[in-house]
Amino acid sequence: MSAVLRGNWNYPTTIWAGPGRIAELPAASALAGMQRPLLVTDEGLVNAPMIRRALAAVKDSALFGAVRGNPALSHVEAGLRAYRAGGHDGVIAFGGGSALDAGKVIAFMSGQTRPLWDFEDIGDWWTRADARGIAPVVAVPTTAGTGSEVGRAGVILNEETHQKKIIFHPQMMPRVVIADAELSVGLPAGVTAATGMDAFVHCFEAFCAPGFHPLADGLALEGMRLIHQFLPRAYANGNDIEARAQMLAAASMGATAFQKGLGGVHAIAHPVGSWFNTHHGLTNAVILPYVMTHNRDAIADKADIIARVLDLPARGYEGFLARVLDMRRGFGIPHSLAAIGVNTDNAGVIGREAALDPSAGGNPIPVDAAQLEHIFRAAVDGRLEAVA
Ligand SMILES: [Fe+2]
Repeated sequence: MSAVLRGNWNYPTTIWAGPGRIAELPAASALAGMQRPLLVTDEGLVNAPMIRRALAAVKDSALFGAVRGNPALSHVEAGLRAYRAGGHDGVIAFGGGSALDAGKVIAFMSGQTRPLWDFEDIGDWWTRADARGIAPVVAVPTTAGTGSEVGRAGVILNEETHQKKIIFHPQMMPRVVIADAELSVGLPAGVTAATGMDAFVHCFEAFCAPGFHPLADGLALEGMRLIHQFLPRAYANGNDIEARAQMLAAASMGATAFQKGLGGVHAIAHPVGSWFNTHHGLTNAVILPYVMTHNRDAIADKADIIARVLDLPARGYEGFLARVLDMRRGFGIPHSLAAIGVNTDNAGVIGREAALDPSAGGNPIPVDAAQLEHIFRAAVDGRLEAVA
């Protein structure tokens, strides 16, 4: 089986896909031009055998394992201290979205003199960076969701303002990605579902974002088809290597597609994650039908295309919405944000921050702070009819 699940791809970056290909990590590090890489991972993986093996395999590498979920500036700063103290010349970002984002931002910041928030994804702020000071990254995803391994940004929490900021530079794209499905077999079912739904939302929001971008649309549609087919299998049996491999590919497709834009789901999920430290993918999965319902008239034609690509028994917007609700239910994902610990105490702030989030601009119809607050309140209470 593994022979047919193997490939070397060169878009949007160099991807070595296939079970067992973590064995090529030393070659990937060399190809990226690193002699002394810093391996960045999160607290949950720091003692995992796969991390120990990677450190042993890559000569002169060292470990920085203090990245948390929803990584913050303090994690980046601690990583930068480790990077500089060890005289490193590149980063192996190894783990889920938090480790990948933190690792990419550490590599990006390693040669900059301006503060991190100067590089937020606003206008042409990325041109403030000294491109020569951006260290190379090899990305090794262990979850299939974020797609950060093929992204040009990292999301970092500003703990003072409770805002998630997108740090962007075209050269933050990892030089080499190792997409090894065997690394994700140990992922618990709940995390598999939540991260997989994040990838689904990336594809969905990218496909529905306005603008002429058939390349992104093609990736988004096929990504949704793969997730619809293989996420239930990966959820039911974590050792299903074929399902894991297809999900890894679909996650990379989602993140490639969302260069076109995201939308209201991510716009709301970012401040919710900042304020309540909820899991990003899970937050998106809960919010998705509420934003769909709000956008309904604008996305009816596109929802029908998705329903046809997924070969759903009921077509059109209704058929697709019904399947989204079914998928959530099947994965044990709750219907309300209240069920994952979110309340409406700061609803006004969350509405305003959602409106300011760069993702909001990709929503199929313009959304303002009051509308986003309304959608958020409906999602907290589990009242889908309130946004209809
Ligand atoms: Fe996401």
